[in-house]
Amino acid sequence: MKSLSVNVDHVATLRQARGGLEPDPVAAVLLAELGGASGITVHLREDRRHIQERDLEVLKRVIKTKLNLEMGVSEEIVKIALKIRPDVVTLVPEQREELTTQGGLDLSRDNPRLKEVISLVHQAKIPVSLFINPDPNSIKRSHRLGADMVELHTGIYAEKQDVMEVATEVERIAGAAALARKLALGVNAGHGLNYHNIHKICLIEDIEEFSIGHAIVSRACLVGMKEAVREMVELIGG
Ligand code: PXP
Repeated sequence: MKSLSVNVDHVATLRQARGGLEPDPVAAVLLAELGGASGITVHLREDRRHIQERDLEVLKRVIKTKLNLEMGVSEEIVKIALKIRPDVVTLVPEQREELTTQGGLDLSRDNPRLKEVISLVHQAKIPVSLFINPDPNSIKRSHRLGADMVELHTGIYAEKQDVMEVATEVERIAGAAALARKLALGVNAGHGLNYHNIHKICLIEDIEEFSIGHAIVSRACLVGMKEAVREMVELIGG
């Protein structure tokens, strides 16, 4: 059976836009769990543009499913991760200027820091997932690095419009998922998945979990709008 890890970063993005307390990503997490999410993902970025360290501390205490912490490999963030002890750590490339994570980790060259962080997280008995592009080399290198899981980057697939190109990307992701499975790696997928493009990716048997954020938070804003306005109209007495 497939499972869904809901990424609530953008609830925090909305909160940070006013620098206040609302909307609270922790409340969103509780509702996501009520809705059937089997995990929650947050990305603690170096620039703290959305999720804050305090969110992580509270989340770790209240979460009933599984906390997946997405993160880069900077010393500061690794230290926080080892203190909070999420259920899973997903290592991602992180650049300050990017709007969102751009592509998977570059595993084409030796990366001693990545190796070191995997080992530190493992010493803390926390499983490690690597966010990678869906290609055979990245899968084999993830396996060699001792990752427990991979998260296949579906962003390229999500951007494709042409039917043939979409089909090629689906094949590429399916091939990568099959190889990862053969190497006994757990297989997750995410980035850019939405209510229109999830269907084809869902048909790939080897993928166990999807990590989806922007589409769900965007949909929540819209499906909740009518009720939110109705409540305010009632208060105004209109
Ligand atoms: N997986 C990873 C590694 C990500 O960086 C992100 C974006 O934070 C997601 C999944 C979720 O992507 P989206 O918000 O497009 O659903």
